[in-house]
Amino acid sequence: MPLQIFKHQSNGSDKPHLGEDIYTSPYMREGIQLNKMPETSHLPENVYALLKDELLLDGNSKQNLATFCQTWMDEEVHKLMDDCIDKNMIDKDEYPQTAAIEARCVNILADLFNSPAATTTIGCSTTGSSEAAMLGGLALKWQWRKKRKAAGKDDSKPNLICGAVQICWHKFARYFDVELREIPLEPGKLTMQPEDVISRIDENTIGVVPTLGVTFTCMYEDVKLISDALDKHEKETGLNIPMHIDAASGAFIAPFITPDLLWDFRLPRVKSINASGHKYGLSPLGVGWVIWRDRTDLPEELIFNVNYLGGNMPTFALNFSRPGGQIVAQYYNFLRLGREGYKKIMEANMSHAQYIADAIKELGLFDLFYDGRGGLPGASWRIKEGLNPGFSLYDLSDRLRMRGWQIAAYPLPSNMGDVVIQRVLVRHGFSRDMADLLINDIKRAIDYFQKHPISVPLTREEAGGYAHN
Ligand SMILES: Cc1ncc(COP(=O)(O)O)c(C=O)c1O
Repeated sequence: MPLQIFKHQSNGSDKPHLGEDIYTSPYMREGIQLNKMPETSHLPENVYALLKDELLLDGNSKQNLATFCQTWMDEEVHKLMDDCIDKNMIDKDEYPQTAAIEARCVNILADLFNSPAATTTIGCSTTGSSEAAMLGGLALKWQWRKKRKAAGKDDSKPNLICGAVQICWHKFARYFDVELREIPLEPGKLTMQPEDVISRIDENTIGVVPTLGVTFTCMYEDVKLISDALDKHEKETGLNIPMHIDAASGAFIAPFITPDLLWDFRLPRVKSINASGHKYGLSPLGVGWVIWRDRTDLPEELIFNVNYLGGNMPTFALNFSRPGGQIVAQYYNFLRLGREGYKKIMEANMSHAQYIADAIKELGLFDLFYDGRGGLPGASWRIKEGLNPGFSLYDLSDRLRMRGWQIAAYPLPSNMGDVVIQRVLVRHGFSRDMADLLINDIKRAIDYFQKHPISVPLTREEAGGYAHN
């Protein structure tokens, strides 16, 4: 039963006298019922004030270093979101310019990911990478099923091979009846290795999904290495296994920081890529992208046609109605920043992450698990093996929360469940000054634990906090 803080007020008694201060109105002095729709209406400014005050208790998103999602935007993005509040992106006929902008974003991303058919290929916006991953996975399943049917073979037991994936792939497997052959994390094997992929393949494998920026470790899986292994396997067995890349975060980092890294459509085996516009794409929450290498890589059967300026426009998202503002904001970022702007922002993020990692190492209590180099702009560490510093990483996260920092502490998945790490993610909107403030707060927290030793360290359950895994 939720806590009832406010008493019910009847008969519209919140009406203030003309010009009355919001906080002396009966509404604010005595409150309203919060868990039931009130019988009467209330003044908008009063309800706004109440909600704004409640929301103060939410975490401060700028100090939320647990999330991959973008939390700082240009003023112009705020304005565009407001300008687009009434636009439903699915109504291509009513809002043809939003539709055109979405199509341009698809072309821009296909080009960024080096599609050989960047101007003619297909792709779409989604609510985020989860929906985009489901669409990529569905296309793999349909393509595989068509081949099986044509060969007169059983098509009832599809499987998908991946490393330590984000939960969206578990959802995909369960919702769409696909067996997930997940390669567990092992000490010394923090990314998927070719032999572990090959040993899981059979004729029912619909595809392999490497992650560019593994959620738990921030590391890139070696897409080229896996692609080469699949080429060799095809030569030996005749099985042609496609790849989908989960580049939720890495898709907007690798093209700018490591442009020579082969992870995208330059590898012919890569058929589709998902990316989160609302993570390092720098757009507001609620936009992801899925792009296919070539039009033919998305099975026709998944496409629905909607009316668009008297003609037809293909759509294949899981949702129908969706806000158009995030798509417009994504396009704004592409035009406003250009490749140069994205590169500078990602370089700054990387340098802050490395700065934090180096400072953590200096403290002498932690082993770096990821030092901010070669993957996503983040850093992670564990307590030195065998050391008992008198607090757990959960205690440290809890203490840092007093200063507003939200920092994920979590056990690694699968075969490394006994290793607890703490991870920070650096996003656009972070500065060197904030990095110094964080490091000083970590030092202060450690000093505090030395003066006031923890007798019963917090557990993960007690510490709470969401690791975005
Ligand atoms: C690698 C990876 N894939 C997929 C997702 C899900 O993305 P979204 O939150 O955009 O649905 C995440 C989220 O963190 C992720 O890190």
